[in-house]
Formats: sequence, C-alpha cells, structure tokens
Amino acid sequence: MDVQSVSSWTWVLGALPILLLLLWWWNELRYVVPLKASFRNGIKLPPGDMGFPFIGETLTFVWYFKILRRPDDFINAKRRRYGDGVGMYRTHLFGQPSIIGWTPVIHKFMLRSDAVFTHSWTPNDLVGRNSIVANYGQRHHRLKKFVTMAINRPNALRQVASLTQLRIASAFQEWAHKGTIVAFDEIRKMTLENVANQFVSLRPGPLLDTIGVEYKGLVGAFRAIPLNLPGTAYRCGLKSRKRLLEIFRKELEKKKNKHAKDGELGHDLMDGLMQTTDEDGKYLSDEEVVENIVGLLIAGYESTATSLTWAVYHLAKSPDILQRLREENINLRHKKNGELLTLDDVSELKYTNKVVEETIRIANLTPFINRSADEDVEYQGYTIPRGWKVLLWIRYLHTDPNNFDDPMSFNPDRWDNAAKAGTYMVFGGGSRICAGNNLSRLQIALFLHYLSVETFESKCQDELPASSKTGRWGQDFLQQNLEADVLLLNCKDLLSLLCFYLVVHNHDLNL
Ligand code: HEM
Repeated sequence: MDVQSVSSWTWVLGALPILLLLLWWWNELRYVVPLKASFRNGIKLPPGDMGFPFIGETLTFVWYFKILRRPDDFINAKRRRYGDGVGMYRTHLFGQPSIIGWTPVIHKFMLRSDAVFTHSWTPNDLVGRNSIVANYGQRHHRLKKFVTMAINRPNALRQVASLTQLRIASAFQEWAHKGTIVAFDEIRKMTLENVANQFVSLRPGPLLDTIGVEYKGLVGAFRAIPLNLPGTAYRCGLKSRKRLLEIFRKELEKKKNKHAKDGELGHDLMDGLMQTTDEDGKYLSDEEVVENIVGLLIAGYESTATSLTWAVYHLAKSPDILQRLREENINLRHKKNGELLTLDDVSELKYTNKVVEETIRIANLTPFINRSADEDVEYQGYTIPRGWKVLLWIRYLHTDPNNFDDPMSFNPDRWDNAAKAGTYMVFGGGSRICAGNNLSRLQIALFLHYLSVETFESKCQDELPASSKTGRWGQDFLQQNLEADVLLLNCKDLLSLLCFYLVVHNHDLNL
C-alpha cells in the first residue's frame, strides 16, 4: 500500500466516527438546535431523544408494539432514562418531530387547550370537509351538537335500545343453530347489521354487504401512506368513501321523497340528523348529513364490535364475574317477563355497567390521541414548539399501576369507586370527547345482558386453529398478559348447546 492510499484510509477512518455522530445527532441538529438559536432567551424542550435521521424513533416504537408487544414499555423506558419530569418527552416519530404526553395532568392540559392543539393527523380527503372531525371552533361545535343529539342523548339512546336488542337476540338464536362460531366474525356481522339499522334503517342484504366491503376499503386507507396513486390502499380508500357517500345519498333521497309523499318521519340516525335544527333554526345540509353518517360508521362500527368481543373474551376467562353478571341479568329478565329492556332498565344494571366500564378500560381501543401544536406553547417552563406533533398516550393512563391497581387484571369491582381524577380517558376529553360514548356503553350493556342470560361453560383450548394465530399487537399483547389464546365457550340455552370459538384476532382499529 502506498503512502497516498494509507493517508486516504486514515481520512476515511477518522471521518467515520464524526459521520456517525452527525447521523446520530442529525434530528437534534435539524430540529432542536435551530429552535434554541431562534429563541432569544433560550428554549427548554421536554427531555427525550430524536433518534435517527428521518425515521427518528419509529423503529423503537414499532419494536415495543409489534415485536415485544408491550406498547407501554416505550414510555417506561423513557421514564427510566429521563425521569418523570413534567410528563412529556420529545421524540421523532413517523417522520415528524413530536411530543409525547403520558400523565393525567398533561392530558388534561392538552385536551383543554384545543384551540392550539388541533386535530390534524387525519387526511380530510378521507373524512370529508363536512365531517365533525375535520372541523374546528364554531363549526365543530355546531356539528357536534347535531351528532350528539342524534346518537348520544336519552331520546336517541331509547331508540337504539329497542332497535339493537332485537338484532342481538336474533344473533344469539342464529349462533345457537350454528353451534360453533368464530366470535369476532359473528359479532362484527351482528354489529354492522345493528349499525346499518340504527343509522339508516337498512336491513341485511346485498346493499349492507357492499357497505361492509367499502367500509373495509376506507378504513384500510387510514393506515396507508396518503399517496393518491393507482393501486395504493389510499386511492382504494378514497374510492370506497365515494361509493359509501353515494349509497347514503340515495338513502337520504329516499327519505326525503317518502317524507314529501306521505309526511312520514323516520326514527333512525339519519332522520335525527335531518330533522334537528341549531339554535338559529337551521338544518344540516344534505352533504353534512351524508358525510357525518360515513364518519360515524368509521368511528362506531369496529369500535363497538371489538369491545363486544373483548367483553366475551374476559367473561369467558372469569367465571366468577360471569356468574355475578348472570345473576343480575337473570333477575331482570324475570322481572321483564319477555319484554325488551328499556334505557332505565339498563341503568339499573349496576354490576353489568361495571363490567362495561372495565371492558372499555382494558381494551384501550384508542391507544393515542393525535394533535398538532398550532403555536409555541409553554408548559411549566418547557416549550412545545409550533408545528410539532403531539401524541397523547391515553392507554398508558389505564395501564399505569399508579392509576389503577393491578391494571392488567379484569376487575369490574374496581369501579365501586370512581377512577382518580384524570386517569380514565378512554373516550378522550375536552371538546373532542367521543360523541358516541353513551351509545357504546349502552350497546355493550345490552349485549352483555343477552350473553349472560345464557348458560356458559368456559375452557381454554390448547390447540389453536392456525387462523386464530394472526393478531395485531393490541390483542396479542393482552393475550400474552392474560395467558390465553382461544376460549371455547359452551353456551346452553333452552334449545341447544352452543359452542363459541372465541378467537380474538386481527381487530383492525388498534393501530
Ligand atoms: C368503545 C368504543 C369507543 C371508543 C373507545 C371511542 C373513543 C374515542 C376517542 C378517544 C375519541 C376522541 C378522539 C380525539 O380526541 O381525537 C373519539 C371521538 C369520536 N367518537 Fe368515539 N369511541 C368509541 C365508540 C364510538 C361510537 C360507537 C361512535 C358513534 C357511532 C363514536 C363516535 C365518535 C365521534 C363522532 C368522534 C369525534 C368527536 C369530535 O371530533 O368531536 N365513537 N372516540
């Protein structure tokens, strides 16, 4: 080797550590250093790590979620490294500099400051500019009132209670005839039928099957890279959305024609949205009605199906809880003497409502709330910089032992006392709080009623059917913690012996 090539190698080897260091600090240099330079009196950012160039800490995030299947250890690792501080860390995730909040106080602060922390992660192409989630301020407030009136207030809930029960009861009969069912698939089917009936009085048939297919296409796009190119999941989702809007536009026209012809007003969600007026006496426009129906389908269908499946899953694993649930519900059943349950009956089911709450807590269907800082925000001496993403890790509130004793155990009795202030936010908070929270609770309670008045035996199956082994992190994570995969429930009603293969798998809402 001649002298020249030795000296080139020396340069390369000498520069390599500097290059690596530069790479290591790239995001810090790109995002943090300019911020510090631009603030005259200095700026203090929450502690944290911006990770590698471009990808930041995304791989670490994926590691905790997908490989370790312990999502909350992402936060635990940070707590060990940086201390608890003010409950925020800086990071870089999915191509964006971000702040993660994980304590009750931070959640409260950010959810209440919704004028500065806006809700900007969902592409408007997918939700529609008239949708409740795409709007802010006055317009959001107005739409929220309409939607809440139509789905979440006692009058609407009374209507839902009667519509939903008939379908739930007939689903149990069908399952009895089938004998063995895959619980999640059947619950999904039943939920879609219920949702279609509640939303637009649609009965099972080819149109409902099409809605199911298009729904799947649309939801797929929410998880895809937003590239509107031929063949991408995003473009498929946009097409599905268009087809769903067409379907619901036709339903709206039918309702209008019927109303014009015989003056008849219906009682479903679409009717509710069409008939309600705001304080100025104004109605929603047709497009506002139709886009919000699609939005509610996205928000309400799979979340309900998944929580019902989780309820069955936990009950199958907890015979004592199932027994108490059964006693309460059989009692009511005797009193009702074959009549449908009313909203008031459901509120009297004290233990059932605790099971509902515990199901929702432990299912953590919405792991995070995403926001974006519209301006620099000061919080206890730290700055959340303008333009940075904000990730509120709400699931951590529900799995932190400081907030809930033995958080991974399914224990409805914990609801004998209310959760500590700010520690229970399954439905979010502030002005964006879930518009369907009471509706969800009601639907789960009604389902539990019909489920528990049957007789169940539960056992764990060692042999898993191959299909049940697929699963997203949320389900697998809990499955691992609860040490069970598939449950076989033998359900005896007066007519026959039922078997549920309870295969908790692939619930798409979780990421
Ligand atoms: C257990 C089931 C459910 C859970 C855990 C859940 C959770 C949530 C959460 C956490 C938010 C707030 C998102 C944010 O702040 O960015 C939200 C918003 C929303 N949810 Fe739910 N949800 C459930 C069921 C439903 C149902 C059944 C419906 C309606 C049919 C519904 C309709 C909505 C709507 C319209 C919003 C947007 C509210 C707004 O932007 O003001 N949700 N949900």
